[in-house]
Amino acid sequence: TFTVELARSALTLTIPAGKSILEVMREAGVDAPSSCEQGACGTCLTTVIEGVPDHQDVYLNETERRSNTCMMTCVSRAKSERLVLDI
Ligand code: FES
Repeated sequence: TFTVELARSALTLTIPAGKSILEVMREAGVDAPSSCEQGACGTCLTTVIEGVPDHQDVYLNETERRSNTCMMTCVSRAKSERLVLDI
């Protein structure tokens, strides 16, 4: 379980084990684009403002992964207790 703050939506969401950030955002009524939902297409690419993502996708390259500045919300999770996303 970790917390995701959506900076532009002014929402704080709790992401439980077994649910993606994308799923929880949708349940909260956030209109977040997606396509493959398997971490491959790049549609759900999101800017990370704070926190450390736990990358589970096959889309980002190593430099992007290490930068902690972007993530795929359909599959990736958090290494930190909290992420702040530019949504
Ligand atoms: Fe395709 Fe997330 S929806 S990478």
